[in-house]
Amino acid sequence: MTSTHAACTKGIILAGGSGTRMAPMTSCCNKQLLPIYDKPLVYYPLSTLMLAGVREVLLISSPTEIHRFEDLFGDGSQFGIEITYKVQQEPNGLAQAFVLGKEFIGDDSVALILGDNVFYGHGLSKTLQNVAQSGNGGTIFAYEVSDPERYGVIEMDAAGRPLAIVEKPKEPKSNFAVPGIYFFDNRVVGFAEAVKPSPRGEYEITDVIQQYMDDGSLSVQKMGRGVAWLDTGTPMALLQASNFIAAIEQRQGLRVCCPEEIAARMGFITAEQLAQQAAGMKSDYGVYLRGVAKQLIENPAVLEAIEVA
Ligand code: DAU
Repeated sequence: MTSTHAACTKGIILAGGSGTRMAPMTSCCNKQLLPIYDKPLVYYPLSTLMLAGVREVLLISSPTEIHRFEDLFGDGSQFGIEITYKVQQEPNGLAQAFVLGKEFIGDDSVALILGDNVFYGHGLSKTLQNVAQSGNGGTIFAYEVSDPERYGVIEMDAAGRPLAIVEKPKEPKSNFAVPGIYFFDNRVVGFAEAVKPSPRGEYEITDVIQQYMDDGSLSVQKMGRGVAWLDTGTPMALLQASNFIAAIEQRQGLRVCCPEEIAARMGFITAEQLAQQAAGMKSDYGVYLRGVAKQLIENPAVLEAIEVA
């Protein structure tokens, strides 16, 4: 049975790509494994999915890189989630995620997050959880940027209803870019299968979104300026993202997008399990996790009280 109203507990991380735009940094290492300050880039989208309440994850990457992610995350049980893996032979476009993920998605709704998208902001977890809970139609976000021509761009009417979506338009009709996190009901598999390669030869995510728009079941939520959606597309953007995360972490003494911590605060693992995992870690990251575990064991009430992203 196809369920179009079920809450979304599944998510796909698309972490392949050719890496040519970031060479030589990516000549022998997938872009999503490069560090943003103190952890690999892919930790951030994984954390974002977990904060949305997603507990079954499919990670898609290239044939040469997929094993690195398997080495990094294993089956995901350390985070109290399940991670499985799928190879994308060629980086032919984002819409392929749903075709490759057909079996994983089964009869359910699904979220897609791009492996190079970093989000940070107050209230973001709640927003994502609400969207994931609704499980209806398609939901995308709109985020105001100064350089919309680099992204999928959404044009809306005065009431915020979507009018048109265009991938990397030369003359953007709005400043609202579509960030790389999307929530779709089960029809996404059929919609993705119907997508034909674009003039640049890619199966575009915008062509999936267009089908939801055509049947009136696309909702667009503005992601406010209080949320940081960080660019990681150039060496300078990577450095700036690292500096941003470092500034927040040093000021607060809290780590941003730390999946072990999120797992414990979301109740995916117990504080004791977190303490066990952290016991063997020699890095500052391990010291931090031991501190979080100790705090949660001594005062479980903070589990409820603390906003994690
Ligand atoms: O970041 C948001 C933007 O992401 C959206 O606004 C655009 O609509 C969407 O097309 C996408 O644009 P990009 O130009 O940033 O996509 P890019 O080709 O860089 O791919 C994004 C990530 O997905 C990157 O980490 C590599 C990975 N990827 C990409 C393709 C095309 C794959 O794993 N497989 C692929 O086939």
